[in-house]
Amino acid sequence: MFTDTHCHIYREYYESIPEVIRRASEVGVNRFIVAGASMRDNVEVLELVKEYSSMYGVIGLHPEEADRYTKEDLLFLEQHLCDDKVIGIGEIGLDYHYTKENKERQKELFRCQLELALKYHLPVVVHSRDATEDTICILKEFFDVRGIIHSFSGSLETANIYIKMGYKLGINGVVTFKNSHLKEILPEIVSHIVLETDSPYLTPHPYRGTTNEPKYIDLIADFICEELHISKSQLEKITNRNISTIFDIL
Ligand code: NI
Repeated sequence: MFTDTHCHIYREYYESIPEVIRRASEVGVNRFIVAGASMRDNVEVLELVKEYSSMYGVIGLHPEEADRYTKEDLLFLEQHLCDDKVIGIGEIGLDYHYTKENKERQKELFRCQLELALKYHLPVVVHSRDATEDTICILKEFFDVRGIIHSFSGSLETANIYIKMGYKLGINGVVTFKNSHLKEILPEIVSHIVLETDSPYLTPHPYRGTTNEPKYIDLIADFICEELHISKSQLEKITNRNISTIFDIL
């Protein structure tokens, strides 16, 4: 059994969520961790995990929300962190790709949610884009917190820093892209990875440009197994072990 450890299976993106689940289960993908990013998403994540037994949720405020969020939003998150099937805080982090102007607001939001992770002993799902140095600095302030570095695509040096801090690396369709160098460091990082799709985004090759869905975990797994000359069941063992060191879902 494989798990899609990071997806956004919201109703607005898919005609039928039961069909998405069925297509995934046909290729052995039977568990889904749905991630929130905005308050609207978080409300939907809470609904989805109630409705579908195979779905678990992480809720949180994405750095894109840094200029919008309110104290009440953080309070709402806190009130739902102990809900059934809410297994972590995410996706949270820093994103300097589109703007660096609100860096301080982003850092403040990130730290507030890491405080919640500490308080409730929950793992975090970290989004970091063009912000590696600051992300590592802040995570080091919270050295008791563990989690997943979502959509990891950095250098081996960066990977090793995260791994040493106890984080696992979320690998998605990016690894299959022709212009990605991620496959070159796979042998060194494979024992610390988990698989994710980030659906509906980041659809793997050769379906780039279409809507992503959790069934493509299978394509990502095939690609990694071929690169590393390992079997699917070996990869399944590695990733399931890593999932259970971070999340409490079994
Ligand atoms: Ni995401």
